Order: sequence, then structure tokens, then C-alpha cells
Amino acid sequence: MYLLYTILAALFCFLILKWMKRRRYCMDIKRLDGKTVLITGGNSGVGKETAVALALRGARVIIACRDEDKARKALREITARSHNMNVLYMRVDLANMRSIREFSKTFLQKEKRLDILINNAGVPGILDWTDDNFSMCFGVNHLGHFLLTNLLLPRLRESSPSRVITLTCSSYRYQKLDFQDLNYNLLPFFTYCRSKLANIYFTQELARIMEGKGVTAYAVHPGYVQSSWTCHYSFLFQLLMKVIMFTFFVPCEAGAQTVVHCAVADEVTAHNGGYFSDCRPGSLRIFAKDAGVSKKLWEASERLVKLV
Ligand SMILES: NC(=O)c1ccc[n+]([C@@H]2O[C@H](COP(=O)([O-])OP(=O)(O)OC[C@H]3O[C@@H](n4cnc5c(N)ncnc54)[C@H](OP(=O)(O)O)[C@@H]3O)[C@@H](O)[C@H]2O)c1
Repeated sequence: MYLLYTILAALFCFLILKWMKRRRYCMDIKRLDGKTVLITGGNSGVGKETAVALALRGARVIIACRDEDKARKALREITARSHNMNVLYMRVDLANMRSIREFSKTFLQKEKRLDILINNAGVPGILDWTDDNFSMCFGVNHLGHFLLTNLLLPRLRESSPSRVITLTCSSYRYQKLDFQDLNYNLLPFFTYCRSKLANIYFTQELARIMEGKGVTAYAVHPGYVQSSWTCHYSFLFQLLMKVIMFTFFVPCEAGAQTVVHCAVADEVTAHNGGYFSDCRPGSLRIFAKDAGVSKKLWEASERLVKLV
């Protein structure tokens, strides 16, 4: 009898795990020949798998990374897996506003098109500061991409219809923004949650501002993914997370699917400014849909990155 109970319990756990790790794959087979895609942080994790998937569809793919060695290694892998020689690397450090401005200037000089911008790079909850004295999560995950997108908007508009996809996380729901302390840098996980909430507000406001101008915007939660984000933490934490990630998280290729879906599928344009998860529109907590907060964050961000 005990054996039967053990087998049933094991089967139950197996089915629960299978259910937790279920992911939809992008079924749209559209090609992207002649299109240019820019992916920040394309050297690892979700970004690298997105680069492979879009290069396989024939796009010119530019990965924007901060570490040249890692970028070159990733470039070789993306090219080999996609058989697409039209894959490039450009250097940008999103923790440095000057680097973003220089990158954008070079990009605008060299690239005649920008059809899909994927704001993928991100740091997990760490207590650190950027070169411009912003908290690392808010500075890289939100402000860096905010500045980059704004500087590249002229090319996105010229290449319309174009799309801006920004990686967020379902953990946005655990925090709200504090406009008295946008640079909040106290509890690591909460700094991350706030930056990911900022990604959602940014997407909504961008969609509103670009309404009717040929640029649409989407926020994507990729699921919980077996990427290399734990490299920022201690060896012990990495070891523990390896077991947890292996058990509960999905491979990076699966994590890239919703990003690819938002990059290619026609039906997503009906949800401009929307939040996507598992290749379909997801629902947001009410506070994350507040247009007043989106506008306020946009205006505050413009001042912080000195766009106005
Ligand atoms: N993994 C998950 O479970 C999960 C869940 C929800 C949302 N997300 C989001 O998905 C996105 C991709 O994350 P991932 O899981 O693929 O993580 P990852 O493997 O750690 O990749 C993050 C990428 O961002 C780059 N990056 C970090 N700081 C940068 C900077 N200052 N300038 C330029 N690039 C920088 C990293 O470059 P280096 O290699 O040089 O560090 C790396 O290429 C992130 O926005 C993350 O918040 C992930």
C-alpha cells in the first residue's frame, strides 16, 4: 500500500512540475528578411536565444553588450546556430549615460533601419550604483533603456511599422513606485521589482506617445528562466539556485518565445502598450495600469537622463 502511495505522490509531483514548466511556443512563422533588430544584452540568456530565433528568420541582428569578449563569443554561437552572417555586435554599457549616447550616435550614423528594438538587458536585485549615481536596477533596467529608446526613436519612426519590446517580470506586482525615492536601493529584490514595474509604465506611456506614429510597444514577462542572472551572487546562492532553476525554471529558448511572438505576430498590435506572458496578453494589477503614474514616471525619467 505504501508503495502505491509513494508512486502516486511521485506522479502527482511530476505532473505539477510539468504543469509549472509548461510554456507556449511562438507559432508564427513570419520571416524578417530586410528587417533590423537591436537586442540589448544579447550575449546571454533570453537575449541570446531571442537573437538566434530572429536571425533564423533572416533579420539583421545587432546585439548591444557591455563586455566585448562575451559578445564576440555569443556572436560566433548565434551565427553558427542560425547560419546568418548578418549578425553584429556593438558596445554599450547601460549603466553609463555617456556610453548610451555614444552608442546611439554611432547606431544612427551606421544603421539605416531599426524595425525591432528589444530592451532585454537587465540586472537582478543587487545593491549597487551606476556611473551616474542611479541605483543599479533602476538605472540599468529602466533609465538606461528609457534613454536608449528615446535616442533611437527617429530611426524607429522612419522604419515604421516598428516595435519596442521591453523585458519586465511578473514580480512587478510586489512593489509600487515611490516618486520621492525613485532611486530606492535598500532591499535587493524590491529594487528589482520596482525597476520591472517601471518597465511596464514605460511601455504604456511609449505606446500612448507613439499612437498613430507607426511605433508600437510591448512589455514581456519571459517566465522564470534558467539564465545566468545568478552570476551576480555568492557561490552558495548560485549552487542553491542551480537546483531550484533546474527543477522549476524553463530553458532560455522557452523564455525567448514571448519576445519572439511580440516581435513577429500581427495580432499583438491590437494590444499596443500591453503586457505579454506565455505568448499571449496577460492581465496586470490595477495599480500597474495607472496612466497618470506612467506619465509622471516618463516626465521624471526625462529629467533624470537630461533629455529635457
Ligand atoms: N531569468 C528570469 O527568470 C527572468 C524572469 C523575468 C524577467 N527576466 C528579465 O529578462 C531579461 C533577460 O534576463 P536573463 O534572465 O536572460 O539574464 P542574463 O542571462 O543575466 O542576461 C542579462 C543580460 O543583460 C546584460 N547587462 C547587464 N547589465 C548591463 C549593462 N550595464 N549594460 C549592458 N548590458 C548589461 C548582461 O551582460 P553581461 O553578460 O555582460 O553581464 C546580459 O547579457 C532581464 O531584463 C530580466 O530582468 C528574467
